[in-house]
Amino acid sequence: MNNIKRDITTREDIELLMNNFYERLLTDENINYIFTDVAKIDMKAHIPVIADFWESVLLHKNVYHNNAMKIHMDLNDKTSLTQNHFDIWLKHFNNTVDGLFEGVTALLAKQRAKSVATVMQIKIAQNKKP
Ligand code: HEM
Ligand code: HEM
Repeated sequence: MNNIKRDITTREDIELLMNNFYERLLTDENINYIFTDVAKIDMKAHIPVIADFWESVLLHKNVYHNNAMKIHMDLNDKTSLTQNHFDIWLKHFNNTVDGLFEGVTALLAKQRAKSVATVMQIKIAQNKKP
């Protein structure tokens, strides 16, 4: 086993990262129901789309064309996305990145995840009906 970790540089790296990340999310009972019971997503179809997102964000490819913000706002209308959910999501994301990769892009991935999660939480709070 080679213990020296590489950075994220290819589509294959992103797919490896996402497969490992979603494995963690789906085995965590505090959050997996949102994927399996609320959104009922087909992971086989979902992984390539989120890989497109991260390939766009990290590797400067213009391959993601959906509105990720609206998708999460709609999701929040179906089931509340709480601070705790975001903490869990980010914990698994960061642990997955750190378990597999090391480098500037790995660091950027964690920073961008936190930025997007922060914006999502602000938008969710603003949407809250009085
Ligand atoms: C829900 C969707 C998204 C949200 C809420 C979001 C939010 C943000 C925020 C808050 C920043 C500034 C903070 C930081 O530098 O970490 C940022 C930077 C950036 N985002 Fe996004 N982002 C989203 C999607 C995307 C997508 C799909 C791309 C891919 C094209 C992207 C590419 C970038 C880039 C390149 C920067 C750095 C800009 C710079 O530093 O000059 N983002 N994003
Ligand atoms: C509380 C935290 C979060 C939960 C529970 C969550 C859950 C979900 C679910 C259930 C979907 C599928 C929605 C659908 O297709 O109907 C989804 C899609 C997605 N999520 Fe999240 N998410 C969270 C945070 C984030 C964050 C912070 C990011 C980005 C940094 C992100 C990126 C994405 C992307 C790119 C998609 C694909 C959207 C598309 O189909 O174009 N998620 N998420």
